[in-house]
Amino acid sequence: SDSLRALAARSGLRIGTAVNTDLLGTDATYTAITDQQFSTVTPENVMKWQLVEPTRGTYDWAAADRLVASARANGQLVRGHTLVWHSQLPDWLVQAAPAMSADELRAVLKKHVTDEVTHFKGKIWQWDVVNEAFNDDGTLRDSIFLQKLGPGYIADAFRWAHAADPKAQLFYNDYNIEYTGPKSNAVYALVTQLKAEGVPIDGVGFQTHLDTQYPLPDLRANLQRFADLGLNVAETEVDVRTTLPVTAVEQSAQVAAYSQTLQACLAVRSCISYTVWGFDDGHSWVPGVFAGEGAANLYDAGYTPKAQYFALQQDL
Ligand code: XIL
Repeated sequence: SDSLRALAARSGLRIGTAVNTDLLGTDATYTAITDQQFSTVTPENVMKWQLVEPTRGTYDWAAADRLVASARANGQLVRGHTLVWHSQLPDWLVQAAPAMSADELRAVLKKHVTDEVTHFKGKIWQWDVVNEAFNDDGTLRDSIFLQKLGPGYIADAFRWAHAADPKAQLFYNDYNIEYTGPKSNAVYALVTQLKAEGVPIDGVGFQTHLDTQYPLPDLRANLQRFADLGLNVAETEVDVRTTLPVTAVEQSAQVAAYSQTLQACLAVRSCISYTVWGFDDGHSWVPGVFAGEGAANLYDAGYTPKAQYFALQQDL
């Protein structure tokens, strides 16, 4: 029956996946599912600063370029992920940043954002310009960027990215902002202020890394309030983990959560894409990070589609 991307196209929705570029072109089944089921791709790692500039001043775009070329060949759009983030920074930066002046670090960050967006100019649909800048309590995360540059680094990053590729849609992206609460409210206040100041921001990405043990009370209404600011919204990293081994009850909750997240996006006109953070349990980041949890994806480790996949197919 019909692929997710064919079904989504009828609703004007783009459906995406994070891609592990080590598997693209080497694992035939992984590659076929990526190309056949999804109309956007996000590099799971290979556009992160640590991977594109492992040595100061020496860029390595090879893996990311391969993904962009594959996307083009398969009629897929690309979500660029991610320009400014406290994690997966190059070692040289982590070592050098504490001794830098604010002006030095600002120049280094500006060069990174400008060079990366310029390299991919015209090839990226949505950039995650700033990723995970907030703590769960709604305060700004104490990153090297906040410490040295103050909160203004966020607006600066959007301005630099826009100058380098005026046509790319620029997103703020974060997790645990799917429901209203201190963190979501803080992001709402930030993007309200950015819009008021004329900062070039186009959207907010809701990562949507869910766990069956936590509720998701008001996703649709929360997406809508951001959309009402004149922004696009997107679910950017959907997965739904649970404790292993999975019981039938837990899998029902996972299926319901996939369905709920997709339906919320479909119900909000400005929700322009729905992206899963990988599609198969065999290559998920979840077991490595959340002890004892997994089975978070649409396909099992043998690439057999699960009930989660059929729920999306049915809802589209
Ligand atoms: C994760 C990748 O999936 C892992 O392979 C990597 O080791 C760490 O990063 N939020 C994000 C993503 O924005 O970039 C993260 O991806 C998952 C959480």
